[in-house]
Amino acid sequence: MMLKVEGLTKEFGGLRAIDNLSLEIKAGGIMGLIGPNGAGKSTAFNCIAGVYAPTAGQIFFTGENISGKKPWDLCKKGLARTFQIVKPFASKTVLYNVTVGSFATCKLRSEAEDKAMTVLKFLNLDDKKDILAGTLTIADRKRLEVARALATEPKLLLLDEVMAGLRPSEVDEVVEMIRKIRDSGVTILLIEHIMRAIMALSDRIVVIQFGKKISEGTPEQVANDPNVIKAYLGDDYVVS
Ligand SMILES: Nc1ncnc2c1ncn2[C@@H]1O[C@H](COP(=O)(O)OP(=O)(O)OP(=O)(O)O)[C@@H](O)[C@H]1O
Ligand SMILES: [Mg+2]
Repeated sequence: MMLKVEGLTKEFGGLRAIDNLSLEIKAGGIMGLIGPNGAGKSTAFNCIAGVYAPTAGQIFFTGENISGKKPWDLCKKGLARTFQIVKPFASKTVLYNVTVGSFATCKLRSEAEDKAMTVLKFLNLDDKKDILAGTLTIADRKRLEVARALATEPKLLLLDEVMAGLRPSEVDEVVEMIRKIRDSGVTILLIEHIMRAIMALSDRIVVIQFGKKISEGTPEQVANDPNVIKAYLGDDYVVS
């Protein structure tokens, strides 16, 4: 199992943002994590990636208990994530930003830059390598965020809303990019609000609301689950 989350709970003061969440991700696939705004999706990512220490519960990555480990250590073990709010070094070039990621596994600058270039080529961003990150379009900034994570050579990549704010044609491109990353052997956990993208990409989907898992299954199973329809649209829409 690539990732196993057991009884994960995260509280902020009196607010229980994640409530006893368990899930498992097999190597090689794409799992979608969906739920209404404020459901706890990013908080779950932050716990898995070591940004927050869980209030309770355990997280296992490739069999190893990683609960409470820090992001940089997890990154070096092969667990990388993107942030919902992208934050590149705006006054540095695209290549510089991606090279920062390569240093997770490379010691030499030349080696780190070579790896960054390989990732940029893989994501069709190599022609923008000398552009300052702060001047990129939203779509390219999102791709840069993915490139920075990929440059760390992850086994598991957590993508937090990499398609938010993109035009439909740009969403299609990112869907293809994510497939390509999966096909290269990286397991993916994806948070996304754009349903047609999550339905097209995911092997399995976990749905959370108020920090609790309310549904899990194939895209078709989840889309037809009355619990999910109720969570998104309210009671009136459930045909019983
Ligand atoms: N650092 C924090 N301190 C206090 N409360 C937080 C913190 N981070 C998140 N929360 C709260 O936890 C809950 C879950 O937030 P989270 O960002 O995980 O939701 P989300 O599912 O990612 O939402 P969205 O779809 O809008 O990105 C929300 O009520 C949020 O206000
Ligand atoms: Mg979020």
